[in-house]
Amino acid sequence: MKSIKWGVLGAAKIAREKVIPAMQGSQLHIIHGLASRDAKKAEITAKELGIPVHYGSYEALIDDPEIDAVYNPLPNDLHVFYTKKCIEAGKHVLCEKPLALKSEEILDLIKARDKHKVKVGEAFMVASNPQWIKAREIVNSGELGTLKSIQGFFSYHNIMPDNIRNISENGGGGVWDIGCYPVFTSRFVLGKEPERLAALLDYDPNFGTDRLGAVLIQYPSVQMNFSISTQLMPYQRMMFFGDKKALEVRIPFNAPSDEPNELPLHHGDILHHEVEIIRMPISNQYTRQGEDFSKAILEDGDVPVSLENAYRNTKVLEAIFKAAKEKRWVDLA
Ligand SMILES: NC(=O)c1ccc[n+]([C@@H]2O[C@H](COP(=O)([O-])OP(=O)(O)OC[C@H]3O[C@@H](n4cnc5c(N)ncnc54)[C@H](OP(=O)(O)O)[C@@H]3O)[C@@H](O)[C@H]2O)c1
Repeated sequence: MKSIKWGVLGAAKIAREKVIPAMQGSQLHIIHGLASRDAKKAEITAKELGIPVHYGSYEALIDDPEIDAVYNPLPNDLHVFYTKKCIEAGKHVLCEKPLALKSEEILDLIKARDKHKVKVGEAFMVASNPQWIKAREIVNSGELGTLKSIQGFFSYHNIMPDNIRNISENGGGGVWDIGCYPVFTSRFVLGKEPERLAALLDYDPNFGTDRLGAVLIQYPSVQMNFSISTQLMPYQRMMFFGDKKALEVRIPFNAPSDEPNELPLHHGDILHHEVEIIRMPISNQYTRQGEDFSKAILEDGDVPVSLENAYRNTKVLEAIFKAAKEKRWVDLA
């Protein structure tokens, strides 16, 4: 069977520390090349990670006919620009979240994808993680009774001025960086789109990026609220409450790859609380994401997170900014 040759744009932290190591060693693909704006950095990083080819510019990688597929972990403001360049060069593209900072730009990528007949998707690794596939199965099985409420939380503490998360021009801020996850995973589990939302956002006076947020979402028959912050102690949790039981996704987003992911199922009353812990087999969500994507290329199947899905997620994130700015509910058609 043919194996897919991947190229990586930029020596990003997520690529070096998580995605590249997780994708190496698969029968389905190899990480063939890595490009950096700095040729020396490309050479050193490629050597450190055991990647055979390196390039001193993104264009050189995109123009290399040896490369079948590109992983794009550039700063958020460069996602659409380089994803489009790759598509036009006939490459498949797995682009980091958030795929775009403007939903209309995804419509343009959809046209380019269809014209060049390539696979393009957003790198929400949670969609390939067995704990989320199980969570969706449990919620939809009716085990919780009738699902009525979803709660989410995602925070970390990062005040480094040169980090892309704290630079507005790079598409920094909490909504784009982490607010995308409670939105994506709730849509993923429910298989439904939000009807309307309201939001509060607090901005860092120096960075100009959103650093604290609270979002209230009405889904059909289900209410959701979540909080995010780039300047709190690190914490993350997602809870799905039915009228019989509640499902917790204990480490929903930065799920460990060296120990079982846990899904506690809560029931009973306050004083006689019972918890059944569902332990998932150990797996690496980035390995699965890469393999799911390569399989979609090799078997002409669906990518884990399509551009159409990315478009709908981005519409919700845009509505969060609008609701906070205009201090009102925003309807999502
Ligand atoms: N799915 C996940 O679990 C996950 C986790 C973390 C981050 N992410 C996403 O991955 C992307 C990268 O995040 P990161 O934290 O890994 O970023 P990072 O370490 O800052 O890396 C970004 C890379 O982009 C390149 N770049 C090009 N123009 C740049 C510019 N003007 N400023 C800074 N870098 C520039 C640089 O590579 P060269 O200098 O080598 O060209 C840099 O190494 C973001 O979109 C983020 O949302 C996803």
